[in-house]
Amino acid sequence: MAMQTELHIIVISNRKGGSGKTTVSVNLAAEFTALGKRVLLIDLDSQGHCALGVGVKPKTGDARVHHLFLDPAATLTDAIQPTTIENLWLAPADTLFDHGSGMRDEQRLRNAIISEGLKARFDLIIIDTPPSLDTLLLNGLMAATRVLIPYVPHFLSYEGVRQLVRVLFKVMTRDNRGLKILGFLPTMAAENIRQHRTVTGEMSHQFGANRVLNPIRSDIRLAESFAAGKPIRFYAPKSRGAEDFMQLGQALAEALHDPSHPG
Ligand SMILES: Nc1ncnc2c1ncn2[C@@H]1O[C@H](COP(=O)(O)OP(=O)(O)O)[C@@H](O)[C@H]1O
Ligand SMILES: [Mg+2]
Repeated sequence: MAMQTELHIIVISNRKGGSGKTTVSVNLAAEFTALGKRVLLIDLDSQGHCALGVGVKPKTGDARVHHLFLDPAATLTDAIQPTTIENLWLAPADTLFDHGSGMRDEQRLRNAIISEGLKARFDLIIIDTPPSLDTLLLNGLMAATRVLIPYVPHFLSYEGVRQLVRVLFKVMTRDNRGLKILGFLPTMAAENIRQHRTVTGEMSHQFGANRVLNPIRSDIRLAESFAAGKPIRFYAPKSRGAEDFMQLGQALAEALHDPSHPG
């Protein structure tokens, strides 16, 4: 049988800020490079935190992924920079980008990935998204083949996930039928707290137990690693956070190759 050459594009999304999207994007990207994949991390959130997490300091004149939405002649390729990590590239955010401005084209990112031949250059693309339901998020959802939804298992987060899922189902049944749910991922989880168990139980009940992934536990080292500009596997390889992300990377690599995965 031929080797699978499909380019997987994972969008990391949740309506709520502070649900661990950027932490998951950066550290998962690093895990996939450790598994031998060439990875492109795209930062659609104009807060620009992905660059911090992978130790990149974009210069003033550098092209950014958001230029796609401001200039019809801009390319994604121009925005791609190497990082300090082998086989990991970053398309940094434009921290001056005004959300709500720019072109309304929801297919802009998807078309750039296809027309610029990025399938030949990368094995995997990870897209970090802003905590908003705007054109940027829709661009992420339209371009992706899989969506991963990190959530903090608090009572309030359940509603945020439900709002996102409503949008997801619309996208999945209309504009991007190739999009599948890779999983719901509890982050900053403390297993011994009842609230966390209750919310994760509710997620399992609502979306299927096989779609709820093992949690990323709360670990201050994950926050510190951002300040140090390194993914956790390099910053604190023996930490809980590093252990959880290694396990997540392996689980998702398997899920991506498993045709029987619930998707
Ligand atoms: N598992 C974790 N344990 C401890 N702190 C975390 C964890 N995940 C994220 N954080 C911290 O929580 C804050 C929000 O996380 P972040 O990934 O930026 O969320 P988002 O991108 O959804 O806004 C950051 O300060 C980050 O360092
Ligand atoms: Mg973020």
